[in-house]
Amino acid sequence: MLRLGLIGHPVGHSLSPWIHERLMEHEGLEGTYELFDIDPDTFDHQIHELKDKGLDGFNITVPYKEKIIPYLDEVDSSARELGAVNTVKNTARGWVGYNTDGIGFAVSVRNRYPELFYNEQRVLIIGSGGASRGIYHALLEAGLSKIDIANRTIEKAEEVIKSASTNSESKALSLDKAVEQLNDYGLIVQTTVVGMSPNDHTAIIPLYNLKEGTVVSDIVYRPLETRFLQEAKNRGAKLHFGHEMLLQQAVYAFHIWTDTNPDASLLLEGFEKKLKGV
Ligand code: ATR
Repeated sequence: MLRLGLIGHPVGHSLSPWIHERLMEHEGLEGTYELFDIDPDTFDHQIHELKDKGLDGFNITVPYKEKIIPYLDEVDSSARELGAVNTVKNTARGWVGYNTDGIGFAVSVRNRYPELFYNEQRVLIIGSGGASRGIYHALLEAGLSKIDIANRTIEKAEEVIKSASTNSESKALSLDKAVEQLNDYGLIVQTTVVGMSPNDHTAIIPLYNLKEGTVVSDIVYRPLETRFLQEAKNRGAKLHFGHEMLLQQAVYAFHIWTDTNPDASLLLEGFEKKLKGV
């Protein structure tokens, strides 16, 4: 009997139980995925209580991805470099921390558009928060090195570039500069909250310089097709959706816990229906 869960605050609207229950069903494993909404004032106490519960593994969401680290017995090297953990596995060595957010993005974009990796394309990441950092590290690890980062606050883009130990040819750009040179890129990834429901009429930058055939990705999944992706589609781009990343990061966490290799695409249609509320 597998015992999994999620800690965060709030966690009530999480899609993780739906995903992991489907994955358990699919792999023929019996188990539960519980939500633990932890009040920031009682974090220390509640984490110690969680240790006693003996879960097999759990996910960590906002605002605890950094705060959990001192409670872990081991942290995998890429999560350590990132400074954030979203998955913990209970092992004979104790709690081991991983981060599947960035790799979830890299795997889902590579499954859909492998040509981006065979024939190394330039990448533009827009935004410089935690999601941007995870995706930047994971794409470097996946072998891409020509990755620029554009942000409203350019200093934060510089910090993201410095946070990775890999030598790269990355440049930090203003949003205006990114608009100007958009046709240099084969993959563009939007990682900010701009365009998220209820502000779904907005897009982070205009796409008039986008070249046809560019892969454009938005990590926002509410709405499923953001204004940014709609504009990209109208200009002949190939699209990659935020919910594909969300699903793949969960599948990767499930793989860490169970050593199974479920195929995320098997769940995709059901997940889209779930997100659309049908
Ligand atoms: P997360 O950790 O969830 O990825 P975050 O740390 O809140 O997100 O970072 C949000 C990102 O969205 C940042 O890149 C932020 O730009 P700044 O670094 O300049 O703050 C970007 N962002 C948020 N609102 C924005 C807006 N209205 N216009 C442009 N960028 C915005």
